[in-house]
Amino acid sequence: MKYSIVQLLKNAAPEFVSGGEIAARFKVTRSAIWKYIEELRNEGYVIEASTRKGYRLVSMDDCLNAFEIKNELNTSIVGRDVIFLPSIDSTNSYAKRIALEGAVDGTVIVAAEQTMGRGRLGRSWESLQGKGIYLSVLLRPAMEPVETPILTIAAAVAVSNGISEATGIATGIKWPNDLVIDGKKVCGILFEMSTEADRVSSIILGIGINYSQEPSDFPAELRDRAISLKTASREPAQLSKLSIIRAVLRHLDNVINFILSGNEEKVLDMWRARSVTIGRQVSFTLKNTQYTGVATDITRDGKLSVECTDGVRRELLSGEVSVRGIYGYV
Ligand code: BTN
Repeated sequence: MKYSIVQLLKNAAPEFVSGGEIAARFKVTRSAIWKYIEELRNEGYVIEASTRKGYRLVSMDDCLNAFEIKNELNTSIVGRDVIFLPSIDSTNSYAKRIALEGAVDGTVIVAAEQTMGRGRLGRSWESLQGKGIYLSVLLRPAMEPVETPILTIAAAVAVSNGISEATGIATGIKWPNDLVIDGKKVCGILFEMSTEADRVSSIILGIGINYSQEPSDFPAELRDRAISLKTASREPAQLSKLSIIRAVLRHLDNVINFILSGNEEKVLDMWRARSVTIGRQVSFTLKNTQYTGVATDITRDGKLSVECTDGVRRELLSGEVSVRGIYGYV
């Protein structure tokens, strides 16, 4: 109801709509409308009220709620359902729980803060209130588990494209799916899958974007390896979390549709174009042995090909790869 009022005011802006007209439209009293307007103001909508003219939407102050995220998103899968949570342990953990209860393919969960944010390789993901973008997307693709690594590649492409569209900031992709600016991490993606009799039952793509952290907001050990979009932007005041989230979701929908229609090559090409790993010296550990070499390509099934210094070409599926010039690897 209250977001129907927002929509009405949006359609009328910059004109006023009288309280009587809104009340009549929604068949409630004028004082009920006043209460909704107060609630909306508390959420960050700037609504001017005039006793003679009624109400007018002046600005939105980067409001984040399920209505604004989903409204006219025009996607086919991603964002079929959108859930916004002021605080949660982890959007990925929440997504896993609702997946078991039958949440639909494409459900998006966005939180303002996480109390137990999770990163790759069992690490934690610092998720201070309002500072980062914390979101998870639940997918139920008709794919076999071995076919799914391409989805993490696709997610990195989508977030990179979304950030670029919404902010003009270029990010590079460090294999498999970290996004970096000037060698510092701005986004991490946590891919989690549950299977049933060799079929994917759900995939959760967890996306954490550093949005407005100051260097001092990052844990000490990450301070010179992490960066936020606000720090990287030339026009930090222009950034909008809502626009970034919506752009990321649209691009994610786009790349998922490429994959489902057999156009993986297109996604891989986009990944290659943004890669800061291909052509660079890399180092990694396999079964307790450390290797170095040059990353040469990404395979169709999402593996990184490395020409190692011992003359052997190895393909990596997951794990940690250090790339020269990134996160302090010299
Ligand atoms: C990484 O280690 O690089 C991956 C970080 C992923 C963080 C995101 S924030 C939203 C989602 N919920 C979580 O608990 N983790 C992911």
